[in-house]
Amino acid sequence: MSTNWETTNVLKSPMEVCWQLSYDIDEEKLSRLYTKAKKFQWDAEEQMDWSYEVDPSRPLIDESQFGLGQIPFVQSLPKSQSDALRAHIAAYQLSQFLHGEQGALMTAAALTHAVPDYEGKLYTATQTMDEARHVEVFDRYIKKIAMIYPMGKWLKELIDVTLTADHWVKIAIGMNMVVEGLALGAFHNMKNVTSCELLRDVLTYVMRDEARHVAFGGVYVGKTIAEMHEDDREEVAEFAMQALKLMRGSRVRNGQQFDAGFLEVLKAVDIDPADLVKGVMEARAQGIKVKPPTDQVHAFKHLMMPALIRVGAITQRTREALESEGIPVTEDRAILESFEESLDMN
Ligand SMILES: [Fe+2]
Ligand SMILES: [Fe+2]
Repeated sequence: MSTNWETTNVLKSPMEVCWQLSYDIDEEKLSRLYTKAKKFQWDAEEQMDWSYEVDPSRPLIDESQFGLGQIPFVQSLPKSQSDALRAHIAAYQLSQFLHGEQGALMTAAALTHAVPDYEGKLYTATQTMDEARHVEVFDRYIKKIAMIYPMGKWLKELIDVTLTADHWVKIAIGMNMVVEGLALGAFHNMKNVTSCELLRDVLTYVMRDEARHVAFGGVYVGKTIAEMHEDDREEVAEFAMQALKLMRGSRVRNGQQFDAGFLEVLKAVDIDPADLVKGVMEARAQGIKVKPPTDQVHAFKHLMMPALIRVGAITQRTREALESEGIPVTEDRAILESFEESLDMN
């Protein structure tokens, strides 16, 4: 086997590696998560029907659920072009899922190295296997649609910052709360809008694992942060705030700018970004608000922020700093907890 060095990207990490020579179980909840993780391992080969034919020319997002389709400019495009836009947007999102899963695979492995508790090492090893499976299924699915996009700049930056953090709590915050909160919301939303049965199956299985990963953050990280010296807690809170800001910075503001990856999508379907911006602005001037499809989860508000608050990763100082920048600090845990409970599959 020869490595393709052109597609590699090597980072240096200051991460700590920690042996634990006591095999006592200190944290029962974590031990139970490990037991559940073992019980709910699955094999994509057996659970999914990979013979399912995915027609790459048929958009994966149901037409009635396509947000941009509510804009008159998009409605005025020839049908073949608006269908292509829908297909490429889905391919772009799925590509981000794939690259993000590889990031999760590496952060989970880093956690196994660094967490100081025996049961934490066992649990994070199961998460590493879960993430390997997720990379496998998204890669297989994307090969079926035969359309892959590069990793978005901000997602790479967010995961790189997480991977090169110097403490495992920061890695767990960056991945298990911020990136996985984002992923859980995006998977849920994609599952609701797709018309492809195979993709729905893939997302159902992946989401079960992801809910467990988010729950791990809640169980283990909260306890550790509570025991930290105040200065260390502030350092962790600062990291959480910077991760949130990085993620928020990725948003398209007022249709004025597009992520470089989204520009690739527009190029592929022959839409001038300036025309789309004009179309979005005109729709806004006419009072047309793009309504999200029904039952959509807002990852930032419903998953990420409540998960961070729950473990004490938002301090009074960072709360004030976030609010002064217009970033809402929301506390409603109902959706986060309902996702976590859904993993309790008896
Ligand atoms: Fe994953
Ligand atoms: Fe995960």
